[in-house]
Amino acid sequence: MKKIVYTLVAIIIVQNIGMAQQKEKKYSKEEITIKVEALLKKMTIEEKVGQMNQYNGFWDVTGPVPEEGNAEKKYEHLRKGWVGSMLTVRGAKEVRAVQKIVTEESRLGIPLIIGFDVIHGYKTLSPIPLAEAASWDLEAIKKSAEVAAAEASASGINWTFGPMVDIARDARWGRVMEGAGEDPFLGSRVAEARVKGFQGENLAAVNTIAACAKHFAAYGFAESGKEYNTADIGTSTLHNIVLPPFKAAVDAGVKTLMNSFNELNGVPVTGSSYLQRDILKGKWGFKGFVISDWASINELIYWGHAKDKREAAKIASIAGSDMDMEGHVYIQELAQLVKDGVVKESILDDAVRRILTVKYELGLFDNPYKYCDEKLEKETIGNPKHHEAVLDVAKKSIVLLKNDTQLLPLKKEGQKIALIGALAADKNSPLGSWRIASDDHTAISVLEGLQAYKGNSLVYKKGADVSVGKTAFTQEVAINETDKSGFEEAKLAAKDADVVIMVLGEHGFQSGEGRSRTNLQLPGVQQELLEEVYKVNPNIVLVLNNGRPLAISWANEHIPTILEAWQLGTQTGNAVAQVIYGDYNPSGKLPMSFPRNVGQVPIYYNHKSTGRNNKEAHVFWSHYIDVEKTPLYPFGHGLSYTTFEYSDLKLDKSLYSIGEDVHVSLKIKNTGNVKGKEVVQLYIRDLFGSVTRPVKELKGFELTELEPGETKTIQFVLNKETLGFYNNSEEYIVEPGDFKVFVGGSSYTKLEADFTLKE
Ligand code: BGC
Repeated sequence: MKKIVYTLVAIIIVQNIGMAQQKEKKYSKEEITIKVEALLKKMTIEEKVGQMNQYNGFWDVTGPVPEEGNAEKKYEHLRKGWVGSMLTVRGAKEVRAVQKIVTEESRLGIPLIIGFDVIHGYKTLSPIPLAEAASWDLEAIKKSAEVAAAEASASGINWTFGPMVDIARDARWGRVMEGAGEDPFLGSRVAEARVKGFQGENLAAVNTIAACAKHFAAYGFAESGKEYNTADIGTSTLHNIVLPPFKAAVDAGVKTLMNSFNELNGVPVTGSSYLQRDILKGKWGFKGFVISDWASINELIYWGHAKDKREAAKIASIAGSDMDMEGHVYIQELAQLVKDGVVKESILDDAVRRILTVKYELGLFDNPYKYCDEKLEKETIGNPKHHEAVLDVAKKSIVLLKNDTQLLPLKKEGQKIALIGALAADKNSPLGSWRIASDDHTAISVLEGLQAYKGNSLVYKKGADVSVGKTAFTQEVAINETDKSGFEEAKLAAKDADVVIMVLGEHGFQSGEGRSRTNLQLPGVQQELLEEVYKVNPNIVLVLNNGRPLAISWANEHIPTILEAWQLGTQTGNAVAQVIYGDYNPSGKLPMSFPRNVGQVPIYYNHKSTGRNNKEAHVFWSHYIDVEKTPLYPFGHGLSYTTFEYSDLKLDKSLYSIGEDVHVSLKIKNTGNVKGKEVVQLYIRDLFGSVTRPVKELKGFELTELEPGETKTIQFVLNKETLGFYNNSEEYIVEPGDFKVFVGGSSYTKLEADFTLKE
């Protein structure tokens, strides 16, 4: 008997490999439409609703599983063809098992689309998305998404719930770690890069997966940065700040969008026809499908928008939420709503068409097991090439915030180094909070990274723990507020050292979903540790590990060198060490402003002028009386081990007609002694608008590398896509008038030129 089983397994494995190696077919749009329409005709109402139903695998990931969420019921529904998708089922074997049930046991055998939160890598983790955005390196970001797609797809997954493209200005919100920061232009470019990285050129290829731009929309504007809170924003902010990255993702061909938990101006967005039908599927012509966020259809009830599940299902389906994520609302209510004539069957048809189309595009109908090749899975997950790619983007994500006394790069020999801070030896926190397919404690720590450099003596002392006890993905972190027992030995080590490297910051589970904070300082006793060590040796390189901007005014005032190293994923320690020793010259720039204190938040560079912007002799101008109104480090800021000089900013003309391109050129020179990369940034200011315009808006950037002494000319073009804005009637307009152009290495650049647009 055993023998028979083994033989069967062997046959199945051989078949799997064969299937994965099949040539991937790519159907034309027309061919897919014909297939989808033919299938749709055969489907019962219940089967249609089934396609709109997504169940979680058998693990509660981010929310409570509804009481009906028991595994038996789910199996029964799989057999009936009442499930269109599963999430968090992973592994070639596991996915094969669920696909087998639907394809072999259900009436129509429609394969599942398998979703998973592949947020910054699957098993081999890249930096958290906010950190990656700090690289401003679109190729590296795309590559990182490709690696994530390769590993996830080899593990049975064909759809990621990423990228998160929410613009966020409030560092209290825990999910700022998951997006690209505060700026819609940078956010849009990063969104495109990630979508292209996940989806590749051919969605039917075995190593690409469907992407999902989320959370549509305005989740990043949760009031007071409190998770899942109300968002109340005006037309201008919605259209000029929040929506552009979603539009960019749609234009880049993203196959799906996820709506969100928040309400927007009084309407929970899961039930918003305005967002989903009018804008997304209407104006933008989006042809893919929209999935709810986890049970967010049910939450229409708790928001006080729907009185029960039946009404919630009605509102959400009519509003254009095509698939219900683990809410069990559609599967319970929708068929009856159609039979009662409350929801038109055409609503179902529209949703199902969209879902089936993506399944066809993925090639799931040709081979539902195409992502279930265990041999490929083994070869792919953790492949050394993936480690190289994530190390590359990790180095590029580091931002040198300050280096006053040139403590960095560190000399490679003859130095006594004291390394202090629990995060320095931490192999877990650098993985960030979205690492559900990765193994805990698998990051290279900073200690390990530095140990690879043998020329200096290195002493490590923890100093103080960041947290106490063990914390998991679903739990609150308990921060060490009291234990300072390690301070003395840390101080002793520091006293004796030439240079002290202190790795401080947030626990890996202090940012991410459900992790809003009202205090942005170094958590626990770390600030005190920093101050104590500083007293015995001020030669400190502060390496920050964090998932959001922190308020580090004291450190900025006292510590000569500060390196923002975020949570850099699997290769954290190697990336940090290579930057510390100058084997990589830092080139990252902040994608979010750093506040001086939490009271300044939300703080962002592209704010409005106000009517009282300038400092006055009296008190009646727009400012704070207890702290400067500027951020500690502005958006776009980041230093290098070399210096750059900007000059010769020129426009081809000074007067342009609307619709004409504005050609901008400038020179940049490497004025230091080492080769370095710089993100050249272009900002505009539209001086007078029928709707007031921000004091600066990023409209272009270019990453360039220069040898010492080398000068390059950089050119940008401004056109009607970058010179206009949405007015309060939601029309995109370019207005005549005076503009300024700024170029430089941060949003604080002062090098400027003027031009005028005429009718
Ligand atoms: C999050 C989504 C995520 C989903 C599935 C939700 O709680 O908001 O971003 O994709 O869970 O894990």
